[in-house]
Amino acid sequence: MAKSMVGNSRIGISPSVIVGAVVNGKANYITLGQYSGLSMNPPMVCISTRKAHYTNAGIKENGYFSVNIPSDNVVQKMDYVGLVSGKDTDKSGVFTNFYGAVDKAPMIEECPVNMLCKVDRVVDLPNYDVFFGEIIETYVDQDCLTDEKPDMEKINQVLLSGGKYCHVGSECGNAFSDGKALIKK
Ligand SMILES: Cc1cc2nc3c(=O)[nH]c(=O)nc-3n(C[C@H](O)[C@H](O)[C@H](O)COP(=O)(O)O)c2cc1C
Repeated sequence: MAKSMVGNSRIGISPSVIVGAVVNGKANYITLGQYSGLSMNPPMVCISTRKAHYTNAGIKENGYFSVNIPSDNVVQKMDYVGLVSGKDTDKSGVFTNFYGAVDKAPMIEECPVNMLCKVDRVVDLPNYDVFFGEIIETYVDQDCLTDEKPDMEKINQVLLSGGKYCHVGSECGNAFSDGKALIKK
């Protein structure tokens, strides 16, 4: 197949998440596309935030952040907290805040999934702080569970694709299963 070289940018769909932190004693929220899972055991994630952002100092000071997975009902507010900075706008009242085991990172009632993360290490990239965090607690709305397990269809997670917020698409295969047919006996 013929390929076109289109520069060196990262292309692909990301989750869009809202990260919470306490900054200068107040809840603050930031929208991030740069969020990823890293390991299952221990359960680790990472977020990458531009050094200039207000949120970074609070995460460094308190050693905790939260990752909140949005459904489409919070898209407008998610976009808002990604447009304005806590440096000049108080974002503490945008969502209904709640706290888990520690009061060092606010979580969002309106988001169906919330993860409280303890900072494990910070990687210093030229323009970004990459925070590695261990998930200490995970909360899921009860109406997003099926047989007591998180149901991604009910969670209705919002993705970020080429400047658009999108829904998750339809299934196109079964993980840890479809490839088995190609394993040589
Ligand atoms: C959809 C979307 C995705 C974003 N992704 C990132 C990201 O991955 N990393 C980052 O540093 N900033 C990202 N931003 C920008 C920050 O959310 C934005 O600058 C925010 O206002 C910073 O808030 P703060 O200064 O209160 O920390 C994103 C913004 C939007 C709207």
